Amino acid sequence: MQINEGKKRFLPLLLLGDEEETMIDRYLERGELFALYDGDLKAVAVITREAETVFELKNLAVEPKAQRQGYGHYLIEVLCGLYGREGNKMLVGTGDVSSALDFYAACGFVRSHIVKNFFTDNYPLPIFEGSTQLVDMVYLERKL
Ligand SMILES: CC(C)(COP(=O)(O)OP(=O)(O)OC[C@H]1O[C@@H](n2cnc3c(N)ncnc32)[C@H](O)[C@@H]1OP(=O)(O)O)[C@@H](O)C(=O)NCCC(=O)NCCS
Repeated sequence: MQINEGKKRFLPLLLLGDEEETMIDRYLERGELFALYDGDLKAVAVITREAETVFELKNLAVEPKAQRQGYGHYLIEVLCGLYGREGNKMLVGTGDVSSALDFYAACGFVRSHIVKNFFTDNYPLPIFEGSTQLVDMVYLERKL
């Protein structure tokens, strides 16, 4: 379901997808927030419009206990179907870590381009995914 009011109540889960609240604030206001419930809350996602027919998945997070059960993939399929009515491309940017890259590859995304030093330039503190420090942003895209 799309959430239009009280978006910040989803902050705890949004912080799992992006640990910097000031970055979340930047896209949460202009973006569209979706929450997936299956009984209770399972996942959230934020989509922004980046150009006339280009959308970007800015944040995707699945409740830790609900991960690897298909919720992330399902939410991406629903959102690509929804935004396919208006757009022809969905972008997603992620750190250069295999867990995220493998997940997006499984969801039909292919590599687009790299934004060098995105994480070191835009985040006040170093961001780690496991033991890997995130430096560059890897952009992937999926045709809608
Ligand atoms: C990354 C994330 C969104 C994936 O959602 P999910 O619901 O756990 O993933 P799904 O169950 O839909 O996985 C679909 C497929 O993606 C791949 N995949 C998912 N997580 C993966 C991982 N950690 N490593 C490798 N492949 C993975 C698998 O092929 C999986 O199919 P399988 O379960 O049959 O093996 C979720 O784990 C999450 O919120 N993680 C923490 C926050 C985060 O890192 N978000 C941003 C990603 S940039």
